[in-house]
Amino acid sequence: MTNKIKPLTNFRNLLDVDQLNKSDINYIFEYADKLQSIAKGSIRKIPALRGKTILNYFAEPSTRTRVSFENAGKILSADVINMSSSGSSDEKGESLFNSVQTLESIGANLLVMRHFDAGAPYFVARNIGIPVINAGDGSHAHPTQNLIDLYTVHKKVGNIEGLNLTVLGDNVHSRVARSTIIGFSIMGARITICAPTTMDAQYLSDNSVERNQIYWPEIKYSDDLRYSLKNADLVMTLRTQFERKSNYVVPNINEYTRLFKLNEDSLKSCEKEIKILHPGPVNLGIEIDGYVSNSERSLINDQVQNSVAIRMALLLLLIGDYSLDQI
Ligand code: CP
Repeated sequence: MTNKIKPLTNFRNLLDVDQLNKSDINYIFEYADKLQSIAKGSIRKIPALRGKTILNYFAEPSTRTRVSFENAGKILSADVINMSSSGSSDEKGESLFNSVQTLESIGANLLVMRHFDAGAPYFVARNIGIPVINAGDGSHAHPTQNLIDLYTVHKKVGNIEGLNLTVLGDNVHSRVARSTIIGFSIMGARITICAPTTMDAQYLSDNSVERNQIYWPEIKYSDDLRYSLKNADLVMTLRTQFERKSNYVVPNINEYTRLFKLNEDSLKSCEKEIKILHPGPVNLGIEIDGYVSNSERSLINDQVQNSVAIRMALLLLLIGDYSLDQI
């Protein structure tokens, strides 16, 4: 194996998509394209990470992210250790700092981390000697989900530059929303947030001084679902985050559903062949109808299917020695 893969910008850890540029993201797509054929092939194993150990540390529930990271690591022949807060010494009051010191000492080569506190993976990355991938931190960021969603649109729709994306629903609690807005802006999409005013994340563009910076993309806001779907090429429907009850911002869920649910009726206002994304898990009947989520317009299954190849690419780029030609 030759050393080394082309370095990406600022890429020792993956904490959010704002550390990547357009060419970094396209480079990750190139890896994913190649890895997709392995992930979907009959042998489904390459020795790229043989001898490496990946630690999945999830302090919040997860199905897609945890399982797809586990699968990605195993296809690349890594040893994968799964750990959740429940049943760990977190429950005995061990500090995050002591926990991650312990995890590093055990001999992992990379930490995949989900945490309920925004910023926790940043703290860990500063205090640990191995790369950290943020698998979702509180309401802050979910960079790997965004790369999966960008890749899905890149494969199914084509060039992202110039597409109109409506980000619908619980923007205020959603880490997916933040990473979506940043990642799609980097790739040149135009963003509209559609939500009740109590759920829109105005702070994401609240920076008049540095508005030209990608971290503060220009965003339109609307509380009118039909209006915000009219010119949309894509809609990212967000999960309504009932678990963050202390900040629950909709007084009446029936009214919310009536005004903001994506269904056949609201989609009638679309003037384009809109594609529907949802990061999952879906609250069927709340933010989206079951019929619509399974329709031809939906890319939701594609998002899940692409998750393994993208996460394989990220693992390889962070701790692998394979170049693109060797895959
Ligand atoms: N999209 C996502 O992060 O799903 P999980 O919570 O199931 O991992």
